[in-house]
Amino acid sequence: MAAIGIDYGTSNSEAIYFDGQQHHVIKLDPSQVSANKIRSSVFIYYDGELPRPENSLIEAKVVQLKGMISQQIDKAKDGYYEALTPERQQQCSDKIDQLRAELHNTSALQLRAIEILSEDMTVQDIPLHRLVETGQFAFGEEGFKRYLHTPEKGRLIYSPKNFLGANLIAGQHRAFVGILAKQLAFFRQSAEQQLQQQVDTAVIGRPVKFHGSRGEEGNQQAIEIMSEAAQQAGFKHVEFLEEPIAAAYKVESSLATPTNVLVIDIGGGTTDICCIKLSPEKLTSHDRQQDVLSVTGARLGGMECDKNLIVKSIAPTMGQGLLTQSGLPVPPAFFTDMCAVDDIPRLNRFFSEEYGLEIMQTKSIVNEPQLLERLLLVQEKKLSARLVNSSRLAKELLSSKPDIVLPLHYVEADYGVRISTDDLFQSMQSWLTKVKRLVTECLDKTSEPPQMLFITGGMSLSPIVQHALQENMLPHLPLIEGDAFNSVCEGLAIQAAKLAKKLNNN
Ligand SMILES: Nc1ncnc2c1ncn2[C@@H]1O[C@H](COP(=O)(O)OP(=O)(O)OP(=O)(O)O)[C@@H](O)[C@H]1O
Ligand SMILES: [Mg+2]
Repeated sequence: MAAIGIDYGTSNSEAIYFDGQQHHVIKLDPSQVSANKIRSSVFIYYDGELPRPENSLIEAKVVQLKGMISQQIDKAKDGYYEALTPERQQQCSDKIDQLRAELHNTSALQLRAIEILSEDMTVQDIPLHRLVETGQFAFGEEGFKRYLHTPEKGRLIYSPKNFLGANLIAGQHRAFVGILAKQLAFFRQSAEQQLQQQVDTAVIGRPVKFHGSRGEEGNQQAIEIMSEAAQQAGFKHVEFLEEPIAAAYKVESSLATPTNVLVIDIGGGTTDICCIKLSPEKLTSHDRQQDVLSVTGARLGGMECDKNLIVKSIAPTMGQGLLTQSGLPVPPAFFTDMCAVDDIPRLNRFFSEEYGLEIMQTKSIVNEPQLLERLLLVQEKKLSARLVNSSRLAKELLSSKPDIVLPLHYVEADYGVRISTDDLFQSMQSWLTKVKRLVTECLDKTSEPPQMLFITGGMSLSPIVQHALQENMLPHLPLIEGDAFNSVCEGLAIQAAKLAKKLNNN
């Protein structure tokens, strides 16, 4: 039996096995030849027909149909009493018999109800839990490509992790357990195939604070969902570890002496920070909570930067800032709502017909309606996730280029937006201030100051982030060189190996 580390990230996920000497990365996405990770987004879709509408909807429709038939019976009865000839009376009587038979033929009524409900049903009308129970799943690049080619056939859950701590309405809790269970089962099976042994134990990374505004209650819900999903996925023993602490365990193996290290992990969804006492002598200890000097985290990840970059650089080419004929600005909420890929109710509202009408109305009273036409196209074609993904690409490219032209041909032919590093820098300022505040909070809470700095997570590759944190804020701390993408998962794998040993000894 083997134990693996799983970094279930907002943008990317990874699974690694540590054999005590070496890390073995589990290949999760065959289309990602060089990368070890898999996109965390999931596309749930239907190849053929959509599923039968839910029983509750069918029952409600049957009640409605029965009501209509009863009315027709009443009308036929009136006709019977008012009939002037025996023939007419007979006709009405036959009609009443026929309607009564219809009224009591429940299975025919149910079929009729299903027919009516299915007529104009789209994937968007299917509640999430039903989609999870009846749809097909496509992970990683394959899923994202399917979404790009046939968005109308399913729904893309851009970052399932973002919803785990959120206020979930009835059915959504079950839906997210189902989504994660499918993903974790896929990771476990991939690991079993690659390692050629059974995998029943995992240490799964967790942010210090999950996305959401519900504090500790939200954190508990997220852990509940992940635990339930892991169990459904076939894991017997599961432990959770804060992501920056996991990254610290990876760093620990490279230290020669006891050192206090400040670890900053800036990922796609959250920034997680810890100050921890590391020591080569503790490499094999399983429980290290007493060595954690302080830990902080917040919903401050790369995705927020992607959205801010849209508002700063792309939204102005879609009508943001235009004035209507009455001198009022186009509602700025149009553009923030457009980006709400991590807020299902808000995004559904943005995609609704009423919202489209509102944009159309505004479009008819501005001087440059062609700009708002682009917003309308994103709304009508439900392109929000694609746009946020384009902005993410732009941000990543700007880590190595001074400026780029971001192609947005899927919105309009020949549509491209020029974005410079300075635009990105400006769009990141308020986010950077919040990240720095979080670092300060962690430093304020620690009883012993850090001696070295380790920055990890995909956002640590941004020169803007590096400059702000290392050179500007923490120039006195020597930097530990490490991997931006694998450190958290390698640390989780180390912890998984320790857990397996402990379980074996018990
Ligand atoms: N070269 C780059 N320059 C700037 N940002 C980058 C670069 N490469 C990746 N990123 C950003 O890093 C983020 C993803 O990082 P990572 O894979 O560490 O996140 P995650 O582990 O999925 O998320 P989290 O830990 O928050 O749940 C994305 O926002 C991505 O755009
Ligand atoms: Mg991460």
